[in-house]
Amino acid sequence: MELKNDLFLRAAKGELTERPPVWLMRQAGRILPQYRALRGKLSGFKELVETPHLAAEVTIQPVDELDVDAAIIFSDILVIPETMGLEYQMVEKKGPWFPKTIQSMDDVRKLKSGAEAAADLDYVFKALEITKKELNGRIPLIGFSGAPWTLLSYMIEGSGSKTFSKAKKFLYTQPEAAHLLLDKLSDTIIEYLKLKIQSGADLVQIFDSWAGILSPKQYEEFSLRYIRKICDAIDEAPITVFAKGAWFALPSMGSLDCNVIGLDWNTDPHHARNILGDEQVVQGNLDPCMLYSSHENIEAETKKMIRKFNGHHIVNLGHGVYPDTPLDGVKCFVNTVKSFSY
Ligand code: CP3
Repeated sequence: MELKNDLFLRAAKGELTERPPVWLMRQAGRILPQYRALRGKLSGFKELVETPHLAAEVTIQPVDELDVDAAIIFSDILVIPETMGLEYQMVEKKGPWFPKTIQSMDDVRKLKSGAEAAADLDYVFKALEITKKELNGRIPLIGFSGAPWTLLSYMIEGSGSKTFSKAKKFLYTQPEAAHLLLDKLSDTIIEYLKLKIQSGADLVQIFDSWAGILSPKQYEEFSLRYIRKICDAIDEAPITVFAKGAWFALPSMGSLDCNVIGLDWNTDPHHARNILGDEQVVQGNLDPCMLYSSHENIEAETKKMIRKFNGHHIVNLGHGVYPDTPLDGVKCFVNTVKSFSY
C-alpha cells in the first residue's frame, strides 16, 4: 500500500527531506493515559504483548495522540529469549525476570534457534498485520529486535542489573559458550526480522541497550560482529542500529551495512558528524529528561539539535521516553520538529 506520509522512510533511505521526521522510542506505553487505562484492565504486560489486536491498538495510540511520523510495533525484545526456551515474566514495578537462566554450554545447546524458534512468534506477526491494516498507509511501521549481546545479558543475569557483571563474567570465563549463544541469537533474530518485514514492518531497528558496559575490544568481539552479521543478512528493508553508550564504537559502526545509526544523548551531534560524515543518516538524540523542562527550553534545544545535525537526521530522544514525562512536553517536542524547516 502507498504511504500517505513517507517522510520517515525517505529520510532513512538517505533522501534529504524538507524537515526531519520525528518519533519517540517507547512512545507506545505509559506516557499515554489511554495506554495506562487499557493496561489496567488486563492481567499484565504479557497479555498486551501476546494479544495481537490489543498490541495493534496500543501501537496506534501515539499515532493518534502525538501525530508522529512513524509507528513502532508494541512488543518487547524479550520475546526472543522466550521463544528460544527461556520464559520471561514482567514483574510489576521491577521489570523483567527469568525463572531459568543460562549458566553453561549445556544450557546453550538446549536452546531452540533460527527459523524454528522465530516461527513460534506468530502473535507478533499477527499484531503487525493488524496494525498495518489499521494504519491504512498513514505512516510507516517499525519492527524491532534486541541485539544479540543485550539479549544474552538478560539470559545470563535473569533480570536487569546495575553492572551486568554475571553477563560479563560469562564472556571472560566461557567465551565458547558465549559465542555459540550469540550465534544462535543472531540466527533467530535474522529469521524473526525477515518475518516481521513480511508481516508489514517498513524498517527494522536493533536495540543494543547494554552496549555501553563493554570495553571497546569486547564490544567488537561479542556484539558488533553479530550485529554486522544481522545487517549483512537483511536486505528486504532499511535497518537502524541503536547501541546505547557505544560512542567509543562509532567509527566501527559507520562501516555497518545499515541505513541509520541511533545515537544517545552522550554523543554530541558535531562529534558524530566528524566521525560518521555528513551523509550518514542518524537518529536521536535529545536527553529524555529535557522533556521535563519548560516548553521554551524544549523548543530551543530541539531546534539547536536539528541544526547541529544539519540534515540526514531522524529526530528522536537519546533513549526511551520516561513513563512520568508530561504529555504536553512530549507534544511540544513533536510539534517543534513538525513546524521546523531547514
Ligand atoms: O513504544 C515502543 O518503543 C514499543 C514498545 C517497546 C517496549 N519495549 C514496550 C515496553 C520496545 C521497543 C521495547 C524494547 C525493550 N524492552 C528494550 C530496548 C529498548 C531500551 O529501552 O533500551 C529493553 C531493554 C526491554 C526490556 C524491558 N521491557 C524492560 C527493562 C522493561 C521494564 C522497564 C520498564 O520500562 O518498566 C520492559 C517493560 C516494557 N516494555 C514496558 C513497555 C511499555 C513497560 C511495561 C508496563 O506496561 O508495565
